[in-house]
Amino acid sequence: MKDLHVETSLSHIAKFAPFEDVAGASHFPIYNTGTFDLKKQDGDKIYDYTRSDNPTREMLENLFTQVEGGAGCVCTHTGIASVALLFETVLKANSQILVEADCYGGTFRLLKVFKEKYNVIVHFADFTNFEELEGILKNNPIDLVLCESPTNPGLKIIDLEEVAKLSHKYHALFAVDNSLATFISQKPLDLGADFSLFSTTKYISGHGAVVAGAIVAKTEELSKEIHYYANAGGRSQNPMDVYLISLGIPTLKIRMKEHQDISIKIAKFLEEQPYITKVTHPALESHSQYDLAKKQMKYIPGVFCADFESLELAEKFIENTKIFGEKCSFGSPDSRVEIPAKISHASFSKEELEAIGIAEGTVRFSIGLENIEDLIADIEQAVK
Ligand SMILES: Cc1ncc(COP(=O)(O)O)c(C=O)c1O
Repeated sequence: MKDLHVETSLSHIAKFAPFEDVAGASHFPIYNTGTFDLKKQDGDKIYDYTRSDNPTREMLENLFTQVEGGAGCVCTHTGIASVALLFETVLKANSQILVEADCYGGTFRLLKVFKEKYNVIVHFADFTNFEELEGILKNNPIDLVLCESPTNPGLKIIDLEEVAKLSHKYHALFAVDNSLATFISQKPLDLGADFSLFSTTKYISGHGAVVAGAIVAKTEELSKEIHYYANAGGRSQNPMDVYLISLGIPTLKIRMKEHQDISIKIAKFLEEQPYITKVTHPALESHSQYDLAKKQMKYIPGVFCADFESLELAEKFIENTKIFGEKCSFGSPDSRVEIPAKISHASFSKEELEAIGIAEGTVRFSIGLENIEDLIADIEQAVK
């Protein structure tokens, strides 16, 4: 199954199982077991305990390895567990990490934990400013560089190829949180990253029914490391959840295209409304990095921000809307809205929010798969 386009691999998940099912089942069985009998196995690969290895999980890990273009993968029980596993693998006490200032609130909270408990030194920077980035890399022994692209919720596009070059120039490993774009749109490892990690809770499973994540390593050596620490810390995903995640995977491409197309129409509609002061969507020409977004991503995710003229109006809209749920997370079939300053980024100070371009009245939209006319009618009635 080498050299296939991503969507072909996604349509044949069972072929990534470590061995063939006796009846050629289209859905590889869920090996819902804690242990395996060593006496019953004589192959090269031996299974002993599901925390370390499980055939059902291995199928998904093989698939993610192939579609991200890496050497190995660990599927984790949540998306943030893949970030934690990255930190556990690369960082030690007094390590230094450089992170794009606009990062997911949960990553920010985890960095605080590593800082307070293990004395990890955390540097934040604007990764679109290469001078600032290089200045920090030159003057500090950075072990790990981490960013998302697009960033969440600021929706900045990071030039992953350039950041990979800069990180490696100063001997730092580079990791990309690919949750928003997903491997159907961009492949960070092909652009030079050492790790690509993502929350499969979002677009990859696509139905908002389960939380999970994964991390893919570029080299065999790094792959061995993530497997070692995943087993040591019990980070791996249970087989039942692997099955739930795999149900949505074959339709990722068509869902991403649909999320993109509907969200562009909604963003353009909002841009014309007098009560909206700014819309930030990387697929709109008004986005300052529109060209880079188009170059780096095949499909642009259906997540964008709209700044309402006041917090009161943003709250009124959310209160009155009948279709948009007030929910965190993104990538589900149902459209969602949230005020980052109050929910997903509540742990950010006012100054930190301003630095990443988030205002009090900023509403983050995650557009689902509903009918466009219904969504627009709902927005119109909600702000009246
Ligand atoms: C960019 C990003 N990374 C990681 C995570 C964490 O994923 P999970 O909620 O599956 O733990 C999230 C969750 O919202 C996210 O937005």
